[in-house]
Amino acid sequence: MAIRNIRQEGDEILKKKSREVEIIDEKLQILIDDMIETMHKYNGVGLAAVQVGILKRVIVIDLYDDNGPIVLINPVIIKTKGEQEVDEGCLSFPNKFAKVKRPAEVVAEYIDREGKRMRVKAKELLAQAIAHEVDHLNGELFVEKMIPGTLEYIEPEK
Ligand code: NI
Repeated sequence: MAIRNIRQEGDEILKKKSREVEIIDEKLQILIDDMIETMHKYNGVGLAAVQVGILKRVIVIDLYDDNGPIVLINPVIIKTKGEQEVDEGCLSFPNKFAKVKRPAEVVAEYIDREGKRMRVKAKELLAQAIAHEVDHLNGELFVEKMIPGTLEYIEPEK
């Protein structure tokens, strides 16, 4: 496993749309392991492949609870319910935080890393994380949907 470089604000790749995964091969498994390790290294709750420069529809999420990291390949949000106003950040914008509106609940379909079709019903932080990461796969960034006036800039630690 290896820590990958996280693409940062201003990198044009972050605005690109990722492609569907067609084959789950060894190379993809390595990417997934590296994404999980990279997310953990920076204490992230989620990471999309595009953030490490790979335009594939793969996301990893870890709420640091008993479920451990989850891997979603080709995720599609098929249903949303309600709305929550939440504080949000992103590993590609390490010093920026803002409030955004996210669905209170989402139902998503995806393929897991073993190639099995899965469905998850998520609420609260997991719903927020899935919505945020699926946005990444479509080249959409949280700073574009923040509630005006809520941006906070935190000086990086030296
Ligand atoms: Ni992000």
